[in-house]
Amino acid sequence: AEVVILENEHSAGDLAASYILAAIAEHPDVVLGLATGSSPASTYAALTRRVRAEGTDVSGVRGFALDEYVGLPAEHPESYREVIRREVIQPIGLDPARIHVPNGDIATIAEASGAFEQAIAEAGGVEIQLLGIGASGHIGFNEPGSSLASVTRVKTLTEKTRNDNARFFDRLDDVPTHCITQGIGTILRARRLILLAFGEGKAHALAAAVEGPVSASIPASAIQLHPHVTVIVDEAAASHLQ
Ligand code: F6R
Repeated sequence: AEVVILENEHSAGDLAASYILAAIAEHPDVVLGLATGSSPASTYAALTRRVRAEGTDVSGVRGFALDEYVGLPAEHPESYREVIRREVIQPIGLDPARIHVPNGDIATIAEASGAFEQAIAEAGGVEIQLLGIGASGHIGFNEPGSSLASVTRVKTLTEKTRNDNARFFDRLDDVPTHCITQGIGTILRARRLILLAFGEGKAHALAAAVEGPVSASIPASAIQLHPHVTVIVDEAAASHLQ
């Protein structure tokens, strides 16, 4: 992977946004892979600023989110459907009909995984996939032990991940126990990966992902199998790299 170490999250967001804007300029109906959580926030902020300043037409942009909690009401403010609407679609001005989030509704969960994979395939695949990395080494919600060939499916969240994400909920008990996530195989089919990581809490997982053996124990290490990966990090996240 190409590793770019920048002084702060702000510059990292500017760089990632510039890659995305170049892709939009080339293909106005580009298919983006959207991560949620803290890591892509500066990228979405930079995209919002530049799209407004430059008057970029983003009406054709398509997108697929990485994952969703299972069993939260769709209108729950921390459902990724809502997070993507609030933090990505609204500020950047994307067309909500073109942005897809896996359906975590328990009533239809049996069909949701296949439907999501099919929708990505029918869109022609993801051009640029944004990724964060969990302290456990997960990408998407592919926790350690996930098959490197996995596709979209329901997974159990680890206690570590539930604890890490408790900051978005009132209480730990409110954090869902299950999720639906794109698989590692799904992620690897994107034509370009951009992995963002900031802060010392990511340093260990990032070094294992970039320099360690490729292993299901560190699902993010699967990025080493991909021919076009850009890892954009700050000094703290890079501190365990050789
Ligand atoms: C989010 C996702 C996760 C996060 C990861 C890091 O859609 O798939 O893999 O990217 O848990 O989360 P943050 O960025 O909040 O530290």
